[in-house]
Amino acid sequence: MKPVRIVLMAMMVVAVTTGVVSGVSATAHEKATGVVKERMEVMKSIGKSMKGLSAMAKGEATYDAAEVKTMATSIQSKSAGVAKLFPEGSLQPASEALPTIWKDWPKFEQLSKQLGETSGAVAVAADGGRGAMVPAFATLAKNCNACHTDFRKKKEEE
Ligand code: HEC
Repeated sequence: MKPVRIVLMAMMVVAVTTGVVSGVSATAHEKATGVVKERMEVMKSIGKSMKGLSAMAKGEATYDAAEVKTMATSIQSKSAGVAKLFPEGSLQPASEALPTIWKDWPKFEQLSKQLGETSGAVAVAADGGRGAMVPAFATLAKNCNACHTDFRKKKEEE
């Protein structure tokens, strides 16, 4: 890959991940209970792995294939349980979920299933070095954003 393309790709990664790895207010967790709290914890943990992957993709952290695999696999194992954490109508206080989830359930379920595939692809790419990992990471980040765009409240609406 030409250096210019790598730079462009890295910029794209920054753009797509900004919204994903941004901080989450602590108060939201204090108010949340039951399944809402549970899925916030799962998403938060996924977000933590994503932050680590993002730092390596951007070159802010030293590339470590084993760590990439660990973080990507952690997201993959959690992805399998995501859909189950959204029982119909679960919009209890502090939830940032949108009711469109249950209007467009097949799409939501598909995006959660896809999360297993896109995170798995990052784990597979890990041994190929940063050049192989960055495009796989960008695809994973798009997966997060696609679901958040359609099914999660925007920060401004809080
Ligand atoms: C299938 C849809 C979907 C996918 C895919 C998805 N998310 Fe989420 N995410 C949500 C929804 C919906 C919420 C809001 C849940 C709530 O507040 O009840 C959320 C919330 C979050 C939160 C805030 C959790 C909190 O503490 O309140 C973080 C962080 C997050 N997601 C990170 C990620 C990352 C990183 C990825 C990709 C690796 C990802 N998500 C993929 C649907 C998704």
